[in-house]
Amino acid sequence: MKVTAAEFLKSCASLDQCPQEGLLELACVGRSNVGKSSLINTLLNRKGLAKVSRPPGKTRLLNYFRISTSDPALRHFYLVDLPGYGYAKVAKTVREEWGSLINQYLASQSTLRGVLFLVDGRVTQREDETAYQWLKGLGHRPIIVLTKMDKLKGNERRNCLAALQERFQLLDDDPVIAHSSLTREGTDALWGAIRNALAGPG
Ligand code: GTP
Ligand code: MG
Repeated sequence: MKVTAAEFLKSCASLDQCPQEGLLELACVGRSNVGKSSLINTLLNRKGLAKVSRPPGKTRLLNYFRISTSDPALRHFYLVDLPGYGYAKVAKTVREEWGSLINQYLASQSTLRGVLFLVDGRVTQREDETAYQWLKGLGHRPIIVLTKMDKLKGNERRNCLAALQERFQLLDDDPVIAHSSLTREGTDALWGAIRNALAGPG
């Protein structure tokens, strides 16, 4: 799938500020520093796009990117970069700490059709597990993206995938994509999963 245009659209502080164009949305969720901005830039093949739109202080906002592709089934959609959840928070407060805006968005945005759930395979924490189960409880089928895979060797990769499977109690058909923004590993597979989520198979 070829991205023909990608632009930062706006940052929203409440749901009523979200674009009303009716396009389907794909949200990018994960801990701070997990690699969200890097992933967005890699997916869109636009260096610095995500960083420019997300200066410090905007971290409580929903950041909207408008994407156009060459795929007839997915001409335009929004990629929404959500604030990361922090390292220091305890698991049971993930929901509250994540902020009511994020909660509302993930629970009620009717045009939201796909959620990329980013985890750093080397440092998966209980908090990630809680966030993942919570997303599933909301009815989402998160696409798990293991970030920074270039940092893992063969054995470590296998261990990391097995550990994730067990911790998150994944089923065989739960989508998991090993990705690296450095080598672009997994980028094509990720586009496939995005297309499935937003435009359905075939
Ligand atoms: P916040 O915006 O603070 O929530 O962080 P983020 O999730 O957007 O992470 P960001 O993309 O800014 O990346 C954080 C750090 O990880 C940066 O130093 C990146 O260079 C590094 N990084 C991101 N992706 C990769 C990757 O695939 N491989 C490696 N080796 N480093 C990565
Ligand atoms: Mg970022």
